[in-house]
Amino acid sequence: MKNILVVGGGGREHALAWQCAKNDTVQNVYVAPGNAGTALEPKCKNIILDSDIDNEHSAVITFCQDNDIDIVIVGPEAPLVSGIVDACREVGIKAWGPTAYCAQLEGSKTFAKEFMAQNNIPTAAYKGFTDAASAKAYIDEQGAPIVIKADGLAAGKGVIVAETIEHAYDAIDDMLASNKFGDAGSRVVIEQFLTGEEASFICMIDGENILPMVTSQDHKRAFEGDTGPNTGGMGAYSPAPVVTSAVHDKVITQVIQPVVDAMIAAGHPYTGFLYAGLMIDDAGEPSVIEFNCRFGDPETQPILMRLQSSMVDLVEQGLAGHLPAQAKWDPRPALGIVIASKGYPESSSKGDVIAGLPESNGTSSHDAVKVFHAGTVFSNDLDNANIDSAQKEVVTSGGRVLCVTAIADNILEARQAALAVTGAISFDGAQYRRDIGHHAIARDSH
Ligand code: AMP
Ligand code: GLY
Repeated sequence: MKNILVVGGGGREHALAWQCAKNDTVQNVYVAPGNAGTALEPKCKNIILDSDIDNEHSAVITFCQDNDIDIVIVGPEAPLVSGIVDACREVGIKAWGPTAYCAQLEGSKTFAKEFMAQNNIPTAAYKGFTDAASAKAYIDEQGAPIVIKADGLAAGKGVIVAETIEHAYDAIDDMLASNKFGDAGSRVVIEQFLTGEEASFICMIDGENILPMVTSQDHKRAFEGDTGPNTGGMGAYSPAPVVTSAVHDKVITQVIQPVVDAMIAAGHPYTGFLYAGLMIDDAGEPSVIEFNCRFGDPETQPILMRLQSSMVDLVEQGLAGHLPAQAKWDPRPALGIVIASKGYPESSSKGDVIAGLPESNGTSSHDAVKVFHAGTVFSNDLDNANIDSAQKEVVTSGGRVLCVTAIADNILEARQAALAVTGAISFDGAQYRRDIGHHAIARDSH
């Protein structure tokens, strides 16, 4: 029997842990730190490890050695960028994810842009700046709309799509002058504004072989109609109809394969999940908006709702360098709606009691709706550890709180099913979008 450790505590990690626990050869799925949802999941147990970036790797290694962990699956970008996979490999622990070198594709926008330029991967024209005056001069030259990005990790929030020159100047002042994004924003990338439809293209890569996940699309803006500030993602669905099979082929040959080849050539074969955030123009030509070195959140939730293979099997095959060319998928679409807390994305509230969570939460394999938790904890055990009863009160503990995910015969029905459960859940200040999937639904009804 196998023991798995999932690192992270968001909706993505709940979905990963839930999927891993389905495998009959798995005995325990530990989640560090997890959330109230993972604590309630059969076979899953939350654990608290030192999350200080300097001690995190050694805390993970000690836990793995003490608890016979067979596989570590790393959810979020921060530990990947800081080298958790390298640290585990050095002591012979099998960890699924990219090395720190490869994770620079997400950890530094400048690295990613230079990498794309060197390898002819289509992406928006750009220039990097550390100085506000020259950044503004470049903005004057280029005009608006224009996109300003903090160089480092900023939890999905370091991107400003500026409609006007003034807005672009404000973004430069925030990042370079007033240091709103800290070190992540001490260098900015200014990018050409791309038009088209976005899609998320996520693969597993074992150094050489590519296993594409089904396609997906998320909604990054906070409000309905894709308006308001950028967030980590307010909902997602799979598949993304904009990724036709012709577009799919182009993404593999123009984007994913060049990453695999270039990383081999650099002496750092890419392993783990790779997420290409794409803009697909009217002619079906993809450009890379960003690379992430991990699975998407909330894309993981609808994608894993459709996965019929076992993620544990796929990761084992990936770690052995034998990824299959395809996984088994439910042909039906899936859609997830994020419920966020009051003030998100500018701030978030904690400690609001969540009512209306479904009693049986996807415990039957026939359940068509599953509520994945993200920012949740138990009110009487803020660390989420040692939970032995489903009766405890679940409260909010972060920006994105839940992702209600449904699978159905078509995308509209999936949205209706997710909305029905979402509408029954309540907490003070809960906010969610009722229009997740609108691009795909509009295409369906044509
Ligand atoms: P990122 O964090 O780089 O994915 O950017 C967040 C969001 O900003 C993307 O999902 C897009 O909606 C938007 N965005 C980023 N870069 C561009 C671009 N060059 N052109 C148009 N929109 C962009
Ligand atoms: N949903 C976007 C991301 O995971 O970055």
